[in-house]
Amino acid sequence: GDVAVLVPAAGAGVRLGPGGPKALRLLGGEPLLVHAVRRVAAARGVRLIVVAAPPADVTFVRELLAPVAEVTVVPGGADRQSSVSAALSAVPADVEVVLVHDAARALAPAELVESVAEAVRAGAGAVIPVLPVVDTIKEVDASGTVLGTVDRSTLRAVQTPQGFRQDLLAAAHAAAVAAHTDDAGMVEKLGERVVCVPGSDHAMKITRPIDLVLAEYLLTRAAG
Ligand code: CTP
Ligand code: MG
Repeated sequence: GDVAVLVPAAGAGVRLGPGGPKALRLLGGEPLLVHAVRRVAAARGVRLIVVAAPPADVTFVRELLAPVAEVTVVPGGADRQSSVSAALSAVPADVEVVLVHDAARALAPAELVESVAEAVRAGAGAVIPVLPVVDTIKEVDASGTVLGTVDRSTLRAVQTPQGFRQDLLAAAHAAAVAAHTDDAGMVEKLGERVVCVPGSDHAMKITRPIDLVLAEYLLTRAAG
């Protein structure tokens, strides 16, 4: 296979509360990053995994992941985008398909990695996994007054892994000026087409303490 997967894992995890970098916080006794990398490594066609670790924890992360999978570990940057750029620099030019997958989506299944990679191989330049939005969404002004109700049927919640032709992802990062929260957003700015594939409930992002509770439940249920 000819797929590289970049795993940004250098964030502080401020919204999760005190306890160190989020990717190293425990879920079922193992760091989120271990769960994420194990599932990525189980996906068909993955040739290379590059983790962007908190700069102070690069050596620790290398040792942590050595028994899990063969990975390259690089120091991450000050924001997600620079962590992804740092990881992308470690990918050889002949790798055609590059996925970007948040360590915070620790339980994203190997099948989702495979379906995103497959959509890129089939010809899409940029691919994102999505789910329908379940909440009613309102637009509000700064004072908290409702301006209107957004038509939910055209909205999607976006997950990772996101998949790209390597040349397109590199061009998007080279052109990006503002900080983006996802890589497909940078590709959109280039005017390139981004296509959707079905996401997974298990690819939920662990952001707040309640998300960790749900993830613990999903993990226990999967094992039982
Ligand atoms: N990330 C990164 N480098 C950064 C910031 C974020 O590699 N400088 C990674 C995180 O480790 C995470 C993913 O990007 O896997 C998504 O970011 P997020 O969920 O926001 O994680 P944190 O930034 O760690 O959390 P918070 O924003 O609450 O501090
Ligand atoms: Mg963050």
